Amino acid sequence: MPDTLGCGVIGLGMMGERHARIWHELPQTRLVSVHDLVPARADELAGAFGVTARASIDDLVSDPAIDIVSVCTDDQSHVESCVSAARAGKHVLVEKPIATSVADADTMISACDAAGVKLMTGHCVRFDPRYAVAQQAIADGKTGDIVQVFGRRNNIVDSGRRIGPRASVAFFLGVHDIDIMRWFTGSDITRVYAESASKVLADIPTEDTIFTLMKFANGAVGCLETCWVVPTGVPNTLDARLEVVGTEGRVAVRVGDESLDVAGHDRATRPDVAYGPLMLDAQHGALRTQLEHFADCVAGDRPPMVSNADARAAVAVAEAIHQSLSTGLPVNLS
Ligand SMILES: NC(=O)c1ccc[n+]([C@@H]2O[C@H](COP(=O)([O-])OP(=O)(O)OC[C@H]3O[C@@H](n4cnc5c(N)ncnc54)[C@H](O)[C@@H]3O)[C@@H](O)[C@H]2O)c1
Repeated sequence: MPDTLGCGVIGLGMMGERHARIWHELPQTRLVSVHDLVPARADELAGAFGVTARASIDDLVSDPAIDIVSVCTDDQSHVESCVSAARAGKHVLVEKPIATSVADADTMISACDAAGVKLMTGHCVRFDPRYAVAQQAIADGKTGDIVQVFGRRNNIVDSGRRIGPRASVAFFLGVHDIDIMRWFTGSDITRVYAESASKVLADIPTEDTIFTLMKFANGAVGCLETCWVVPTGVPNTLDARLEVVGTEGRVAVRVGDESLDVAGHDRATRPDVAYGPLMLDAQHGALRTQLEHFADCVAGDRPPMVSNADARAAVAVAEAIHQSLSTGLPVNLS
């Protein structure tokens, strides 16, 4: 094996471009090739990074120069690329959610287990230092026995308009916090009850917002607010919270109040400084840390910090949220 790990990226939208750039920039990896359903997009990024545009998923995964495949296609189409990559003996980093059904998640996990390759889902919030330090504080006992957990992930409406026709807010945004809530509490979610509203995106078959009440195996209760119709006039595109209250203390993460404003005459914005800021002519932040972590796990044959059971559990909860919305009843998770 060469000194660096060869990487390929399938699906070259907003996230695929970031994966491609980071694989290209990390010292321990090199970008080898890219593929997208839209050939012109693959040609564009291949040209930008001086790599090969592959015409199909099979062409990309069968390249012996590739060790790791990033799957960055739409939520519901991760399964095909992941299974093809596993069968070709490649390690897989798949964007969150791992899939949009537990059945698809199981197919992907089984394919990677059978091939003996690593699979990690990009729950990138775990690589945001604010959440990582909060988790450590909870693990160190600062909250004591957890009583309640509150999560919020609200995006501006551009996000709902862009993704709403293809995905659900519970799968696109909610899985981030479902994963963090399980990670913080160290406990499974055993029951959910959800309510939704649809007004702003009424022309699309999707919810504007979903509120979910949760019960945890350790007796705690949780509430998750997930919305993608916040007006574009707000300065921050993402407003996220994660607050844990326990018998001994509280740990609270706030995202969106960053102390950087860039103001024009009409509007102030708060650029992302945590997930993918450009600095020193390279991409930094949580996404880079996540990809670096996965490459280190592959190189050192170590288990990734997001387990497949974690990724599967987040999907099971999102599925249960939709079941609750359609039945109007609480749903128990086994
Ligand atoms: N980690 C995060 O914070 C984060 C943020 C946004 C999106 N995501 C996830 O990343 C994934 C991609 O989201 P995005 O915002 O980049 O979407 P996007 O719409 O910008 O890009 C998707 C790309 O995949 C391509 N594509 C779709 N199906 C394909 C297929 N079968 N084969 C090859 N190419 C295919 C499309 O042509 C498009 O270029 C989704 O799963 C999404 O949930 C994660």
